[in-house]
Amino acid sequence: MKSILVTGGCGFIGSHTCLELLERNFKIVVIDSLVNSSPLALERVKKLTNKVKNLSFYKGDLRDINFLREVFFRLKDENNSISGVVHFAGLKAVGESCYEPLRYWDNNVNGTINLIRVMEENNCKTIVFSSSATIYKVTNNLPIKESAEIQSINPYGSTKLVIEQLLNDLAINSPQEWRISSLRYFNPIGAHPSGLIGENPLGKPTNIFPLIMQVGIGRIKKLQIFGNDWETFDGTGVRDYIHVSDIAEAHFLALEFLLEHKPQIINFNLGTAKGTSVLELINMFQEVTKIKIPYEFTDRRKGDSCTVIADNSKAFLDLNWKPKRSLSEMCCDGWRWQSNNPSGYL
Ligand code: NAD
Ligand code: UFG
Repeated sequence: MKSILVTGGCGFIGSHTCLELLERNFKIVVIDSLVNSSPLALERVKKLTNKVKNLSFYKGDLRDINFLREVFFRLKDENNSISGVVHFAGLKAVGESCYEPLRYWDNNVNGTINLIRVMEENNCKTIVFSSSATIYKVTNNLPIKESAEIQSINPYGSTKLVIEQLLNDLAINSPQEWRISSLRYFNPIGAHPSGLIGENPLGKPTNIFPLIMQVGIGRIKKLQIFGNDWETFDGTGVRDYIHVSDIAEAHFLALEFLLEHKPQIINFNLGTAKGTSVLELINMFQEVTKIKIPYEFTDRRKGDSCTVIADNSKAFLDLNWKPKRSLSEMCCDGWRWQSNNPSGYL
């Protein structure tokens, strides 16, 4: 049985992916600093699988290289060497990154450099990295292909971009050694259908879906919609929302692909290739939950794009990955999690 290190495995996408990888018979070792998550996420993952003994957790920060070395050393000592890494750990709030760029660069970039260094020291050269659609230059050329022009417009995006460049440099320098895949997520939402794990934002969320859910449970009175004058069919911004369980499955497939093929670097968009406007998302949420979401229109948000939709054909061609879950399942599963856990993992 292969052991996989999952950094940031207590987080939203990480916890769903841990479950997926356990069910696919990997041993999972999670490292997480808990800066934006709770260890209870892994306790919930354990409730959803009978492979509990294959999951272990080390609390620590990727910026602490001695901690990382200690984890790799201990695992080797137990004859449990790491075959590959799924690297989620990072700070992810775009707005916050504009106020605290140094914190974002330090956490995301320095953390990744340490991780790569310790991987090299242990001859572990397989990594799946959590990237983002935010690295694409704003474009009207839709849907967005992996080959589209790249440009970051905020510090968070810069950290993703520079990490992709670092991974690219490693692949160019040692083409016979590294197996690398950056997965560029579009807008992951929803939750596991059990309602036991889901997104647990510490502090006020800024993304639309957790905000809708917080209006749903009454924590926030009214949703603000950023603009009704976009060039879309109803004037509100259009995004490519994708169920987190579909994202988790793609991680298994990308990892399996890397482990079974020759060393290479290969990047994929993870989206449904379908656009949904803010108003359509609210309407779907109201329809499946029967809960009214009061909203008001406000000015456009600085730096926002009109329409962002993935071309996901490469992931289908190379990984045989197709997202299976509908927008109504995203809303239904997300709401089950939020209504069962109004205060998150408490
Ligand atoms: P999340 O905040 O729920 O999970 C990230 C996890 O990483 C958290 O558990 C956090 O405690 C941990 N972490 C952060 N810095 C760390 C460090 N230095 N050392 C150890 N652990 C650390 O976020 P998520 O939504 O699950 O996102 C996972 C990854 O996917 C992130 O890298 C994020 O940038 C990327 N991503 C997310 C989205 C999205 O909409 N959720 C979109 C595109 C990309
Ligand atoms: N929106 C509102 N009101 C809000 C929040 C958002 O109307 O309070 C709108 C936005 O204007 C946009 C849509 O809802 O039209 C989605 O906004 P999000 O903030 O949820 O998502 P973004 O697409 O702007 O950004 C997200 C992540 C980024 C990631 C990007 C990838 O936050 O990290 O998806 O496309 F890079």
